[in-house]
Amino acid sequence: MTSSYNNQIPKLYEAFNGQFLIGAAVNAKTVVTQRDLLTYHFNSLTAENEMKFERLQPEEELYTFEEADRLVAFAKEHDMGVRGHTLVWHNQTPDWMFEHPSGRAMDRNTLLARMKSHIETVVNRYKGMIYAWDVVNEAVSDSGEQVLRQSKWLDIAGEDFIARAFEYTHAADPNAMLFYNDYNESVPEKREKIYSLVKSLKEKDVPIHGIGLQGHWNLEHPTLDDIREAIERYARLGMMLHITELDVSVFNFEDKRTGLLAPTEVMVERQAERYQQFFELFKEYSEHITSVTFWGAADDYTWLDNFPVYGRKNWPFIFDQQHQPKQAFWDIIDLTR
Ligand code: GLA
Repeated sequence: MTSSYNNQIPKLYEAFNGQFLIGAAVNAKTVVTQRDLLTYHFNSLTAENEMKFERLQPEEELYTFEEADRLVAFAKEHDMGVRGHTLVWHNQTPDWMFEHPSGRAMDRNTLLARMKSHIETVVNRYKGMIYAWDVVNEAVSDSGEQVLRQSKWLDIAGEDFIARAFEYTHAADPNAMLFYNDYNESVPEKREKIYSLVKSLKEKDVPIHGIGLQGHWNLEHPTLDDIREAIERYARLGMMLHITELDVSVFNFEDKRTGLLAPTEVMVERQAERYQQFFELFKEYSEHITSVTFWGAADDYTWLDNFPVYGRKNWPFIFDQQHQPKQAFWDIIDLTR
């Protein structure tokens, strides 16, 4: 396989050496099917699902580490860093976590004790192998006046489940960089909520070191100005910034069209232009941005094929379905010459 990959082209991670790491989200399948592409261009990995709560502890005290272990071993073998994703989230967390063994309503102390035990077990296992953890994912609400999203975590444990999660993680691995990670991070209303949450954590001396901007963007949204403003605002809190889940959908969120067999020329060009603008911005702020991770690696596999429209093929990356560079790749590389 290795020989079939075009190794005459610049390596993406080398082009940004000394500025930020270049990451990809992977799963058990893509580390096989995208192996050569991954090892050639990327120096950081995130498990797409394999480190989520339901995958690591599907039943109380029953830990299933095999798949996550394999991804970490793959990264180690190829000298790549690993971002840990994610410890505390309202999604992909099994129901048992929020149910009391006796059947009565779950209480705060039990929930926090379970959270602590999960964090200690998981973070300890990968201590020294994970440079950053997404400790809390998506705890901020998208709309309304409420800062925090309604969730079982919030209902049962109250708002300081967030601070506790960071404290437990820091105690388990004092060297890992600890992140709060969210989407719509560049939308002004939500940006201000994330800002105020992180600011209040800092004021309470909670061990938080960074903000993860997921970066699920498209050809029009968010605007470059809004992204810049989000970066500025978060950096002003003294936070390290990671772009954690970058993909650039060729469709607007509302676009329900399915059945397109390939991206149109206009899409490919506009996508390249957007990617170039984003990376120009990341370079400009590389003092703060230390890692840029795509939520996948190439157009043959993306969660966007089934979100938000099931079966709508998407082409959100800078490598095509055959793992060849798209125009976006070359436009990004141009910034580094
Ligand atoms: C969110 C999560 C990711 C992933 C994506 C969709 O952004 O943080 O883990 O589930 O949604 O794939």
